[in-house]
Formats: sequence, C-alpha cells, structure tokens
Amino acid sequence: MDIDGLRSRLDSAGQGHLLAFWDTLTDSEKQSLYKELDHMNFAEINQFFETAMQLSKNAADKVDDLLEPLPAEVCGSVSRTDAETLEKYNSIGLQAIGSNSVAVLLLAGGQGTRLGVNYPKGMYNVGLPSGKTLYQLQAERILKVQQNAKELTNKDCEVPWYIMTSEHTKEPTQEFFASHDYFGLKKNNVTLFEQNLLPCIGFDGKIYLANQHKVALAPDGNGGLYKALTSSTVLADMESRGIKYVHVYCVDNILAKMADPVFIGFCLNKGANCGVKAVEKSIPTEPVGVVCKVEGRYEVVEYSEITLKTAEKRNSDGRLTFNAGNICNHFFTMDFLKTVTDPSTESKLQHHIAKKKIPYVNSAGEIIKPTEPNGIKMEKFVFDVLRFATSFAVWEVLREDEFSPLKNADGAAKDTPTTCRQDLCSLHRRMMLQAGAKFVHKDGSEIPHIPSNRNKAEAGDGQRTCEEFNEIVCEVSPLVSYSGEGLNSIVSGQSFQPPVTLELDKDGKLQVSQGINKS
Ligand code: UTP
Repeated sequence: MDIDGLRSRLDSAGQGHLLAFWDTLTDSEKQSLYKELDHMNFAEINQFFETAMQLSKNAADKVDDLLEPLPAEVCGSVSRTDAETLEKYNSIGLQAIGSNSVAVLLLAGGQGTRLGVNYPKGMYNVGLPSGKTLYQLQAERILKVQQNAKELTNKDCEVPWYIMTSEHTKEPTQEFFASHDYFGLKKNNVTLFEQNLLPCIGFDGKIYLANQHKVALAPDGNGGLYKALTSSTVLADMESRGIKYVHVYCVDNILAKMADPVFIGFCLNKGANCGVKAVEKSIPTEPVGVVCKVEGRYEVVEYSEITLKTAEKRNSDGRLTFNAGNICNHFFTMDFLKTVTDPSTESKLQHHIAKKKIPYVNSAGEIIKPTEPNGIKMEKFVFDVLRFATSFAVWEVLREDEFSPLKNADGAAKDTPTTCRQDLCSLHRRMMLQAGAKFVHKDGSEIPHIPSNRNKAEAGDGQRTCEEFNEIVCEVSPLVSYSGEGLNSIVSGQSFQPPVTLELDKDGKLQVSQGINKS
C-alpha cells in the first residue's frame, strides 16, 4: 500500500479527510479503505460535482422559451390507433422477437430507499393471490412473449434478459434467480451486470465516509447504464446473439410489458433508432418529466423546469401541449446503443444531483443519520440519451394498462404495494371482461362494472355498484395471457365468482380458482 501517495492525491483533491481515522483502523480495515480509495479518480469526481451543481443551478431556470411540442409524425397512441393497425404493430414486433432480434434490459440497480426494504425491489411481493414477485411476473411475461412469437413465426425464439444491478442488488438478485430456477427461463438467457457507484458528497464538495473505513457510495443513476454497458461484456453478448433491438424498462412498474411487441412494432414501423413509451399527463401539475423537443433535440424536461403557464398550455383539441409523461421505458436499436455507449458520447451525459439525507461519520467518529438533506448523490438518467436520436418515436399508452410503479411503502398516497396490486387486478378484470367473462356473486347475480343509479337502486344497500367491481381480486398469470390474447377461448360466456385466478400448473395445464378466499 502506497499510503503516502494516496494521501498526497487526496490532499491535492481537497479530500484528505477520508484518511482521518487511518491510524485507528485495523489492518483489514486499512486494506479495504485503501482498496476503495486507490481506484477512485478524485479529480474526475470533483469535476462531476462541480458540473452537476452547475447543471442543477441552471435547471432552476425555466426553459419554456426553448420548448417545442413533439412533431405529430413521431407520435402514436394506443387509444387513437385502430385495431387493425395495432395488430399490424403487434405482428411486426412478434416477427422481430421470433427472429431472435429483441432483448430486454432491466434497470434494477436502484436502492429503493422510499420503499424501505433491505432487498432488491424486484424481489418484492405486492400481495397478489399468487404471491408472485415483480421478478417472477417479468420472467413469465418474457416466457409468454416468446411463446406468442413462436406461434406466429413457427420458430423457437429467445428473448435474452439483461439485468443491471448495483453493489446493493447484485448478489441477492443472483441468488434469488438461481434459487427459483430462473422462473422457467434458460439460465444463459439471464445476464446480470453491475453499474458503477459514486461517492455521496456534502454540499461543500467533501466526500462522505459511511463509517471510519468506508466511503459513502451510491449507484450512479439509471443512466449509469451506458457506462456499465461499456465496461461489461453485455453489448458483445448482444451482438453475438444477433440482437438488433433492445427494450429498456424499470423494475418497479408492475404493469411493464417486457419486449412489448406493439411498442417495438410501432418503433420499427416508424424506422426509429430511439423510442419512448409515455403516458398522457393526468393534470398539468402532475410532477412528471415530459418528452418534448428543446432547441431541436428530443429531451425529457422535468416539471420543475417549466412554468405553470406552459404546463397548462393546450392544443385546439383540448389536450395538453406537453403531455407525454415519461415512464422510463425505451426502445433502442443496437446501433443507437453503440453510439451512446461510445465514451466520446457517454462522457457528454452529465450527472444530475439528488439532494439526500446521507448517513455519515463525523469528525468524532460517530455515525450520524441526518433528518434533513445534507448532501447529494450524483446520477445520470437513462433518458439523457434521447437527444442523440436521429429518428425518434413516442408511443403513448394507457396509464391504467401499462404504468403503476412501486415506489413507496404502504401508507403513502401513491405508488405503493396496494396501488400496484389494485392496478394489476384492475387490468386483469378488464382483460377478462373484454374476453367475455362475467363476475358474479355467490347467488349467481352479476357484479356490475358500469356504475349507474339503477345498480344502486337494485341493490338497495348500495353494495352492487362499481365499487364492488373495483374491489374484485382477479389475477391472470402472464403464462396464460400476456395482454389479453387467448383469454376468449377460456372465459367467454362464463361466470366467475371472485377472487379469481387463472394459472398454469407445472405441467402447463390451466388451473382456474374462484370464490376461495385465501387469507
Ligand atoms: P428510482 O429513481 O425510482 O429509484 O428508480 P429507486 O432506487 O427505485 O428508489 P428510491 O428513489 O431510492 O426510493 C427508477 C428505476 O431506475 C433504477 C431503479 O432500480 C428503478 O428501476 N435505477 C435507479 C437504477 O437501475 N440505478 C440507479 O442508480 C437508480
């Protein structure tokens, strides 16, 4: 260990305090702290800090004057596209999947601090009747989309799944998949890779120590993807498999459709090298980033960067002018990914700052857990690359069908295990209805799904309204249907008493359970 050399590098970067406890450390603590610090580039970290702070100051300036709405020709919307065209997109997407050209890439390196569990978010079970975790739901959707593509193309196909983890999530994720036999996927089609960490820094630019012999580190944001791809073998693996298109999504959206054929088909039909799935903003003040153009380039602009006046601006049809809410769901061609992961482009992506309460060790060696933000984490965002798109596509989907993120623990106002569970059940109830099923009471009377005074009057006690319908627990395994297809032949004309679950057993046989409350 060249401790003098390290000390001098730290001193010249203004980070000498990181060795404050050196003389009191055990040999193994010294070893691990030295190892951690020795490979850090402090000049670069200081530079990231300066730039990120400057970017954050600039972000306080409103960018209204620079904003341009999305050109109509890059946009499409599931609710304004006829069934025939949707089927065409679906079929284009399935053809691409069928020819082994599509991979999915999961962003799962976040710390999930708001949810507050000490294991990766993908391992979370939101309390569905099946008890399935987010990872299992996703794995089963991949299995099903492979099967759907095979049915269309008559060819066996594989959708490799690349999962970006971080120091905090890699091992448990690895063990979880191994202990569940990869949920039926082939082991060599599930690849974990790790994103980088960056030090957490005080507002004064000093790096925090988490304890006397460890730097406080955090993942470098979901946009750390591009650096992580460069330093891993993932791109090479994709190329060796002949992957042409990559669908990127977040771990926490319980409704996310892996390798969504319709989205992929839409992007391919547009000839896009970069695509975004978006949901229509619910209200002008919804705090969500919007996809738009800034000085001629595609970007996601945070709500805080535009004035209320611009957020409220409407088109002649009454829709918000800036209404494409970003849900962190993207289509990239391989060529595009190669461009943005090239160090000459990747280095142009700047870190954003997230003000956080960072536990740290004070000069007396005590660990302090602050109650107010005391510093920043530096993060790149996955959507930072949109500006490099040369052909772009935005596909607007229905929030109730495709977006319900798990961010907070129960008790919070939104994005909790309960809202995720309810939203998934709501989607599955609607899938069943569309396929011709009815939900009934024990006595066989239908549970109405359209609210009306008549329903209330008939029920007398007000029970048989839509509220009751909205509480029906209904879970359709992704192995049975990816997005409603194939349900017709199973449920059409039939009545189901809630709770209802449709599952495949281990022999692939359909199991329908109804009217049995499992507590
Ligand atoms: P969030 O920004 O919601 O962060 O991530 P989070 O870590 O899940 O939760 P909090 O903010 O700590 O409560 C959105 C998506 O980006 C991924 C997450 O795993 C999630 O899928 N992500 C986030 C990464 O992959 N890496 C990161 O460094 C940050």
